[in-house]
Amino acid sequence: MALPSVYLTRRIPHRAMQALRASCGSVKVWDEEDRPVPREVLLREAAQVDGLLVMLTERVDTDLLAAAPNLKAISTMSVGYDHIDIAACKARGIAVGHTPDVLTDATADHAFALLLTAARRIPEGERYVRGGEWGPWKPDLLLGQQVSGATLGILGFGRIGQGVAARAKGFNMRLLVSGGRNVAAAATAYGAQDVGLETLLEESDFISVHVPLSTETYHLIGKRELSMMKKTAILINTARGGVIDHQALYDALKGGAIAAAALDVTEPEPINPDHPLLTLDNCLIVPHIASATYQTRERMGLLAVDNLLAALNHEPLPAEVEA
Ligand code: GLV
Repeated sequence: MALPSVYLTRRIPHRAMQALRASCGSVKVWDEEDRPVPREVLLREAAQVDGLLVMLTERVDTDLLAAAPNLKAISTMSVGYDHIDIAACKARGIAVGHTPDVLTDATADHAFALLLTAARRIPEGERYVRGGEWGPWKPDLLLGQQVSGATLGILGFGRIGQGVAARAKGFNMRLLVSGGRNVAAAATAYGAQDVGLETLLEESDFISVHVPLSTETYHLIGKRELSMMKKTAILINTARGGVIDHQALYDALKGGAIAAAALDVTEPEPINPDHPLLTLDNCLIVPHIASATYQTRERMGLLAVDNLLAALNHEPLPAEVEA
């Protein structure tokens, strides 16, 4: 039987690439660092191959599937799969793999790093020093919010939300959670309270978002939800930008309805450099790097390859999207 042909929309870590090349007849990669694969190129390449390995930047929809009659497997090097029309893939009998678990620790570390960074106003302090403004020590210089002992609301208590809870326990935080599969049992395991969204918004000092993006969660945090938060609250998002209404967030941060936000994800990505959120000192934005450690990206690459090869061989995927 001929070895499969695959197309990758980005270079992946070396060991993962080697594993793929060892089992495929042809491996083609979009190799331009500075821009994602243009849509027309992706449609053309997908038409030629048995398997696709994509990133979260590529939309896999009915048009792409229609252009790819031989496609048998799709693997995304991401845990999130909101960029893929899963129902349409299933209807075509195309297996879809993703990369859960291997990125949980790195992402939870990053969410907690953002929480601490925003709480203690680290970027402002750094800009202050670099800007030559550092004068005499003062008791009220750059005061932030206390993390130890504060209440953390975790919106979406799945794998990553639970990882954040594990870290928060080291800071003696009270944990409120809402949403996620088997949330009640998981809450008990982490000593958290499973509360509704409203209680979580009203009582949390920090709110960390971990829900997947879907039609139900699009703009889940908008004007009303922001107005329910404490004026001292800090909002952290490492999930998807679309979960938060950015105009409402800007208004809340500018008007003092909440204290600060730290975003790893925005809508769209990259955020427009002229976006008003970037004018605010109390908004910290980094470029979607929650899983960006050498170790985690290698594990993600290897799992994405294992998923793709398993699907192409009609074997069970190590991590198939359940939907
Ligand atoms: C990153 O956002 C991912 O879904 O892996």
